[in-house]
Amino acid sequence: MTMQNQIDIVAFGPEHIDGAVELSRAESWPHRREDWQLVQQLSAGIAAVDADRRLTGTTLLTPYGQDCATINMVIVDKSMRGLGVGRKLMERAMALAEGRPLRLVATKEGLPLYEKLGFVTTGEIRQHQGEVRPLDRPDGVEDMQAGDLGSLKALDREAYGADRSALIDALVRHGKIAVIRKGETIEAWAAIRPFGRGEVIGPVIAPDAKTACALIAFHAASRPGAFLRVDTGSETGIAPWLSEIGLPHVGGGIAMRRPSKDNAEQARRKVYALANQALG
Ligand SMILES: CC(C)(COP(=O)(O)OP(=O)(O)OC[C@H]1O[C@@H](n2cnc3c(N)ncnc32)[C@H](O)[C@@H]1OP(=O)(O)O)[C@@H](O)C(=O)NCCC(=O)NCCS
Repeated sequence: MTMQNQIDIVAFGPEHIDGAVELSRAESWPHRREDWQLVQQLSAGIAAVDADRRLTGTTLLTPYGQDCATINMVIVDKSMRGLGVGRKLMERAMALAEGRPLRLVATKEGLPLYEKLGFVTTGEIRQHQGEVRPLDRPDGVEDMQAGDLGSLKALDREAYGADRSALIDALVRHGKIAVIRKGETIEAWAAIRPFGRGEVIGPVIAPDAKTACALIAFHAASRPGAFLRVDTGSETGIAPWLSEIGLPHVGGGIAMRRPSKDNAEQARRKVYALANQALG
């Protein structure tokens, strides 16, 4: 019997969290028990267990309505790599997506597997973190009110392209949300919550980089010296400012997408000329 034959693939449940924390620690990922619990509650997952029921691999799938899903927490125990466990976990998790287009952020180690499974690179994610310098509290940013939730969700859906209501409800439960208003409407928002070694600021949904920085500064200003993390796309342009406020670039990942069949058909058509410059 090969080692591979001793591996069972089962549904990931709360009983796997302790083993999962060990797997992510072995990769020097910062996830605490609570961080795994949060993602588990929002996701369907697949676990690989050995003959002693020890957890040897994980892959979670977080659906955002019917619009798309993210694949995350893909780890195979170091002693079990190169045996096809990662591919098996991914294939099972992808089946759970039921045709939704998929997104993920890959490590260098994961990249070859994802490419083989039809994912394509769409960008670069930069991880910035550190002990934030004391900052002035920016004007025009305030804590959200209970009545803002619907507008926040609508804004997020427009920016992210999928219904992340369940995630946003969890962010409200576990963290805090700040908003910027323009008249009666909410123009931008950002969440902060405990994560890993400290707290993470995100998502940050804003019309421009200046507004995004104001939201981040609002959260950061209330906790000088705290260990904060922000993951930003390299194209957003806010990375140099994050470094300036004490959150240097420490690593990152490769943003990837796997279109669904429907999407692939749409993607064949592109805008080659604008209606005019005013109308886009
Ligand atoms: C990424 C990871 C999950 C892969 O798990 P694994 O069980 O070793 O993967 P598999 O044995 O199923 O191999 C997957 C495929 O990738 C290929 N592959 C793996 N590493 C490769 C490399 N460096 N170059 C080219 N191909 C590679 C394998 O040949 C295999 O292809 P095949 O199925 O066509 O034969 C594992 O390396 C891991 O846990 N890494 C640390 C955590 C991590 O970075 N996870 C990714 C997070 S996004």
